[in-house]
Amino acid sequence: MNESRRGFLSTCAAATAVPYFSWALPTLADETRSKNDRVALGLIGSGDIANANIGAARDWIDIVAIADADSGRREGFNQKHAGGKAAVYDDYRKVLERKDIDVIHVATPDHWHTKPVVEAMLAGKDVYCEKPLTLTIDEGKLIRKIQNQTGRIVQVGTQQRSTFDLFVKAMALVAEGRLGRINRVQAAIGAAPESPAIPVADAPQSLDWDRWLGPAPVAEHRFLEKPAVLDKDGKPKQQWPYSNCFYEFRWWYDYSGGKLSDWGAHHVDIATWALMLNGQTASPTGISGTAKHPVAFKDGMPVERDRYNTATEFLFTVDFPGGTQMVIRHDTDNGVLIEGDKGRIFVSRGKLSGEPVDQLKDNPLPEGALAKVYKNLPMQDNERKGHWANFLSCAKNRKEPISDVHSHMKMLNICHLAGISARLGRSLEWDDSTEQIVGDDQANAMLARPYRKGYEIES
Ligand SMILES: NC(=O)c1ccc[n+]([C@@H]2O[C@H](COP(=O)([O-])OP(=O)(O)OC[C@H]3O[C@@H](n4cnc5c(N)ncnc54)[C@H](O)[C@@H]3O)[C@@H](O)[C@H]2O)c1
Repeated sequence: MNESRRGFLSTCAAATAVPYFSWALPTLADETRSKNDRVALGLIGSGDIANANIGAARDWIDIVAIADADSGRREGFNQKHAGGKAAVYDDYRKVLERKDIDVIHVATPDHWHTKPVVEAMLAGKDVYCEKPLTLTIDEGKLIRKIQNQTGRIVQVGTQQRSTFDLFVKAMALVAEGRLGRINRVQAAIGAAPESPAIPVADAPQSLDWDRWLGPAPVAEHRFLEKPAVLDKDGKPKQQWPYSNCFYEFRWWYDYSGGKLSDWGAHHVDIATWALMLNGQTASPTGISGTAKHPVAFKDGMPVERDRYNTATEFLFTVDFPGGTQMVIRHDTDNGVLIEGDKGRIFVSRGKLSGEPVDQLKDNPLPEGALAKVYKNLPMQDNERKGHWANFLSCAKNRKEPISDVHSHMKMLNICHLAGISARLGRSLEWDDSTEQIVGDDQANAMLARPYRKGYEIES
């Protein structure tokens, strides 16, 4: 660990004063505690990101149940992270039925977020769900409604909000007025890949493909090895094969919003947060721009259904009252550029730069500036681990976590609007008070998606 990071972490630890993971949770029933006051966690979806998340949360949780549509994945996860002691299920509803589980982690593909999140809240669980919380704008309305109704604690997995040395510090600069009035925020989120036609292929024997599809339209499983790419030592690089399943579901509109919501959920989130901390509204009035798709579209849906179909390149401008603009683009360095009338800063996962940052040497942020943008919630650890710490602390204290449903949906509406605009190839006017697109029935029909029969959400 480098010196500045060690210094940063000890500052955070000092600010916290009392270690807050003692887990004598007065707000949760005693019978729901696992041994040693650790939190009993049920996992839904044991793929890539679940591995990273459970690694980050392991100091405080015991995984007692794992559901995955793939038996190999759930068994492997159990061995790796729970010493083989967790119960494993094909049907996630069996996890929700268990009374000994306090919190649920949803780490399924995007089309499988809203249903288990809603059902988990109704079953009395707190939830950490991966980003983007929803596949559509209307799903966001439903999650907000059920959360208001049940009072459950829901954290979205946008861990950049708990990255104190970069994103939170950038937000503190904004909140302290070091950039002046923000006129423009730019979220650069990179281009998405294309694929060749991907042939129909048997799903892995361990995978229940129909369960994986769930609420999405019936489709055949597709799979194609990628040509080997060698690293500098001449060894083949590890890469996901072309498919419409594990990891690669991101590039199919049936299961995701593509890059616009996959990475939009990270950087549009920071851009929106900056506007709100600058005292501006994060409610857009409209969106315009261009997007390139790897396949033809008709009525907002891809015509060819045998290859990746989400937007590969795009440039959108989102308008806000008062003339402020947000740009969402694929073509510059991944990160967020925040431009105000007194200065501008760039922040990414590796860098925080700009004149207002340089000026911190002579004019440091006032004490408590980071805590203030972090809603005065305890700040412990950093990035993913810090985000889990925030969630578990908020679950314990019944507080709204840093990536709450309401502010997440505020920004995710922008990502979803960009997706609708991309798919229809036209500008959209937005009425935030009704959460409707103005004067465009076809676009409004895309605020929701039909669920496959048997997978409707009962609320
Ligand atoms: N916060 C981050 O930085 C970050 C990073 C990567 C991924 N993610 C998000 O995490 C989610 C998962 O992405 P991933 O890359 O881990 O995908 P993945 O394909 O590796 O894993 C998803 C898992 O969910 C399982 N699954 C599918 N349907 C299920 C069902 N009905 N019940 C139980 N399990 C089911 C799949 O079998 C698979 O094992 C996505 O929404 C993605 O956007 C977030």
